Amino acid sequence: MATPAPHTEKPHVLFFPFPAQGHVKPALQLAKLLHHYHGFQVTFVHTEHNRRRLLRAHRPDALSGIPGFCFAAVPDGLPPSDVNASQDMAALLLSLETSVPHFRNLVADLPPVSCVISDIEHILIAAKEMGLRCVTFWTTGACAFMACQQCQQLVDMGILPFKEAEQLRNGYLDRTVVDWVPGMPKHIRLRDFPSFIRTTDPEDPMIKILLSSMACHRTTPSAIIFHTFDELERETIAAMAGILPPIYAVGPLPLLVSQIPVGGALDTLESNLSKENHACLEWLKGKGPNSVVYVSFGSIATLNKEQLVEFAWGLANSKQEFLWVIRDDLVNNGADEPANVLPPEFLEGTKARNYMTNWVPQDAVLQHEAIGAFLTHCGWNSMLESISAGVPMLCWPFGADQYTNSRYACSEWRVGMEISSDAKRDEVESAIREVMEGERGKEMKRTVMEWKEKATVAAMPGGPSWVNLEKVIREVICLAQ
Ligand code: UDX
Repeated sequence: MATPAPHTEKPHVLFFPFPAQGHVKPALQLAKLLHHYHGFQVTFVHTEHNRRRLLRAHRPDALSGIPGFCFAAVPDGLPPSDVNASQDMAALLLSLETSVPHFRNLVADLPPVSCVISDIEHILIAAKEMGLRCVTFWTTGACAFMACQQCQQLVDMGILPFKEAEQLRNGYLDRTVVDWVPGMPKHIRLRDFPSFIRTTDPEDPMIKILLSSMACHRTTPSAIIFHTFDELERETIAAMAGILPPIYAVGPLPLLVSQIPVGGALDTLESNLSKENHACLEWLKGKGPNSVVYVSFGSIATLNKEQLVEFAWGLANSKQEFLWVIRDDLVNNGADEPANVLPPEFLEGTKARNYMTNWVPQDAVLQHEAIGAFLTHCGWNSMLESISAGVPMLCWPFGADQYTNSRYACSEWRVGMEISSDAKRDEVESAIREVMEGERGKEMKRTVMEWKEKATVAAMPGGPSWVNLEKVIREVICLAQ
């Protein structure tokens, strides 16, 4: 299914990101940078499931490619359907094994590939077996990656899997400090580890996948590119230096990519798996600075009916204006229509000060001066986008790396305030009031503006992330085999 890139002397890089929104988007940003600034040929591989989603959401030219930048798709073993496949992470990871032979055939059909960039274990291993240089592009933070790297030790220490389900509920995770992880603060708790560890099942597929993929990233790639910036995660990155392949921090990618002049052919290439509603930007235009709460739980997290209703009343009672992304599959994986779950009194009472939609251009929303706070599930992209825009966060981690991200946002970078996982409307309301009007909110705003400045410097030409990108190209991607 590939439109082969033309034969040329330019390096030819093949991207194959894990097929979820939070991975595909930064991978496309990195690919655009390599193509625009360094003249690389790019082949960008989607799974067929995601290709179908992209074609539903955009005009066909979003995937027809441009000279020197083509798209390909390989089967993913999933039945054709409209569902958001990334909601079942373990199933998706297992299904990706079926993509490997198709990936091998694709590579054989393409002009010679100089380097494969991926975060999928099977793809990195297959690339290496084919004699190709491969590089991991890790799309979450270094801190969560470091925590995942400790899982083998947690198993060896007899902590993982947990002995009884009770340990997952009774505060054991909150009480158990893990103070021995190099480069991580001494106050990190088991609760702050990625949620994949929360199991009592010795056969848990996610734990098995985690252990083998962490070993793969230690041994298989020639380098690991992290979507972060040096100053944000300096200690963790330094501690990784001795135990992992060479590391390069190249983020925040939205800030680097925003320097590519607009209006070029690259603008037609899309990574959003859902159709964006741009009308929300019009709605924001009339709002005062820092006056609107932006609410989004990313592309995977789901809420039950009660949680949705508590968030709704918390927002309503805070009396703030809000822009809320409610995906069609947000409530119980789409089993419930959000519009049927939200109370009519809430809809009626807030209609003058809310805007609800199912997908927005999030970077542009966060960069809008009207946004005063971001109620977020702490997906890594969302956090970097919020920091880059200088927007303080209310953190409601849902799963995966988001617990680690939230802990860092609240305790290390001091740009966020956590909301309990079982928060009721009163807690949501008072957290929103605090971040929008309170002293703590003002303090977080000051701090996040400092981080915004650091992120901006990192992403400027000559800044650390630019330099790291140039280094990984010179030292790894373009090295002769
Ligand atoms: C998941 C994990 O949760 C995340 O922690 C991990 O780092 C990557 O995979 P997701 O839950 O979707 O990703 O969150 P996030 O990392 O924040 O990625 C969502 C992306 O979708 C962001 O780049 C965000 O800008 C974009 N988005 C979200 C939109 O463009 N529009 C929306 O309406 C909502």
